[in-house]
Amino acid sequence: MKFIVDFANLDQIKELYAYYPVDGVTTNPSILAKEGKNPYEVLKGIREFIGVNAELHVQVISLDAEGMMQEAHRIQKELGANTYVKVPVTKEGLKAMKTLAAEGANITATAIYTQMQAYLAGKAGAHYAAPYVNRIDNLGADGVKVAKEIHDIFKKNDLKTEVLAASFKNSQQVLELAKYGVGAATISPDVIEGLIKLDSVTCAVAAFTKDFEGLCGKGKSMLDC
Ligand code: G3P
Repeated sequence: MKFIVDFANLDQIKELYAYYPVDGVTTNPSILAKEGKNPYEVLKGIREFIGVNAELHVQVISLDAEGMMQEAHRIQKELGANTYVKVPVTKEGLKAMKTLAAEGANITATAIYTQMQAYLAGKAGAHYAAPYVNRIDNLGADGVKVAKEIHDIFKKNDLKTEVLAASFKNSQQVLELAKYGVGAATISPDVIEGLIKLDSVTCAVAAFTKDFEGLCGKGKSMLDC
């Protein structure tokens, strides 16, 4: 499962890249709005930092297929290869996806709440389909189950589309999908930081340090003991 950051603040992206095995960055219009700058300025900064080989996902705003296509072309032109155009799975979105796929564009089908949306996006040529796990949970359904079923639908129908699960609020949701082997998960910084925040680990490491310092002296390590 690819491990992707769902955020647009460059400082925080740099921090996460320094510590975690990150495969790329996803954004959406709400995430970009938090930066309060021109979207292309922000996105170009991210692209420069993550490099040409990493995935960068950028969403279109238009509601009609023609507008989505035009935005997709500018997104690709400005941000280069390995940029995935995020298209919401509406009727117009499916129309845009079919044409963009024929052009060879990288497409991430987004705003997915149902298995049927994902199936249609896969048939329309999307590389990724992004079910909103926690938002589905908040509707009283089971977001992890929906994401797993979408994964199965792709495999059983010989579609190359992968799940790019999004909208996580806790580690358990992420873990369940890693165990199932879905293609990718995009996760916000606060949820990423919670993935390994375990008091038991902190206590275990502190006990090791205390024992070692008892042996060799305060502040000593395997470097200078
Ligand atoms: O891009 C869609 C996804 O990232 C939404 O996440 O946390 O706003 O539900 P969230």
